[in-house]
Amino acid sequence: MALKVALLGCGVVGSQVIRLMHEQADDLAARVGTPLEVAGVAVRRLGRRRDTDIDPALLTTDAEALVTRDDVDIVIEVIGGIEPARSLILAAMNSGKSVVSANKALLAEDGATIHAAARANNADLYYEAAVAGAIPLIRPLRESLAGDHVHRVLGIVNGTTNYILDKMDSSGASFSDALEEAQVLGYAEADPTADVEGFDAAAKAAILAGIAFHSRVTAADVHREGITEITAADVASAKAMGYVIKLLAICSRSDDGRSFGVRVHPAMIPRTHPLAGVREAYNAVFVEARSAGQLMFYGAGAGGAPTASAVLGDLVAVARNRLAGTQGPEESTYADLGAHPMGETVTRYHVSLDVADKPGVLARVADMFAKQDVSIQTVRQEGHGDDAQLVLVTHRASDAALSATIEGLREMDIVRDVVSVMRVEGEDAS
Ligand SMILES: NC(=O)c1ccc[n+]([C@@H]2O[C@H](COP(=O)([O-])OP(=O)(O)OC[C@H]3O[C@@H](n4cnc5c(N)ncnc54)[C@H](OP(=O)(O)O)[C@@H]3O)[C@@H](O)[C@H]2O)c1
Repeated sequence: MALKVALLGCGVVGSQVIRLMHEQADDLAARVGTPLEVAGVAVRRLGRRRDTDIDPALLTTDAEALVTRDDVDIVIEVIGGIEPARSLILAAMNSGKSVVSANKALLAEDGATIHAAARANNADLYYEAAVAGAIPLIRPLRESLAGDHVHRVLGIVNGTTNYILDKMDSSGASFSDALEEAQVLGYAEADPTADVEGFDAAAKAAILAGIAFHSRVTAADVHREGITEITAADVASAKAMGYVIKLLAICSRSDDGRSFGVRVHPAMIPRTHPLAGVREAYNAVFVEARSAGQLMFYGAGAGGAPTASAVLGDLVAVARNRLAGTQGPEESTYADLGAHPMGETVTRYHVSLDVADKPGVLARVADMFAKQDVSIQTVRQEGHGDDAQLVLVTHRASDAALSATIEGLREMDIVRDVVSVMRVEGEDAS
């Protein structure tokens, strides 16, 4: 007997899920052990043109009725956002369905409620597509690395911002010109806030940290900075020093293992670092584990078909579990670690200062760093005379010490402007 699948949403991702379920029906049936049949597709606007052929009789605007239908076994949620997605997922689980979702926003904001409902109903909850599209990350972390101790997850998890920063780096374009190009090419939405302000990456970082550290992590635990303030001059200055600027998501355990930090912000990485070679809208994530060492995952982080690939992988897994009368892994939060404040994060910094062209300036600036115990690795001067800028790269220091240094620098009469402050990642130099 076929397993019946209800699809919630038929947009960029949903339309590709339908197409692939149709085109690959025989293979999917062979892999699962029984055919998968679409029972219905919930949408908002019945008359909208879809990117795939779909039997109009399957379409409905009554998602609630669809997810609670007796003949439905599995619900795929690709609507997005918090509501009605959350209520629909809960209704589906409460009526015994397994759920596949691509909804990073919901999982990062209220994953606890959804996971609790899954547990209470012995229902499967799979969400590979919620983080980095086609790239397998959730299952490797949740299953393949379940026997290891993951201490860091670091990567590029937002294709839009990577495209913009890559354009700025390769052509010298300003942020706004690169954004406009990304919008024309369909890499950025008309309202790009979720991407360029780092909200999308923060949601993904929260999900990854929660799984990696066996703790509950929400988007509110993530320190978030976007890329809107990055200038062509920042990119050029990074380039001159052998760095490239990327928006990174970094989840790391503290040295004592008792807490973790999760942050999303632009950072300079050496051009020799593997993440520097991640161009255009691609994503890549490093996972560092005690026994496995360093693992790198790379690929398409978004797009209809790549994301649908991850959804279908989950669908096959959930369908197999259903046939076997078993369940996939539950949420694991036993370690119950908390997020430490951003001030405790230790990293290196690149600081550009517009300073007065006077003797003794360098010594006074160096003194301000020393006062906060921030030691300087390199200093160089860019430009001459009145246009001179001091560019300093520090050794590893806490975010709190660096912030105090910057505050002190802003108050100095010889510092006309703190032009930019950026973290430097991906180097072991201390
Ligand atoms: N796009 C990507 O590359 C990508 C990558 C990874 C993850 N995701 C995630 O996948 C999910 C879907 O993204 P998407 O890009 O496919 O979104 P989308 O193109 O905006 O599609 C959303 C779909 O949901 C339907 N919908 C909206 N409100 C509804 C409601 N109240 N009841 C029933 N249906 C409703 C819409 O119906 P109408 O068509 O009638 O408007 C549309 O078909 C999101 O959680 C997103 O974060 C997307």
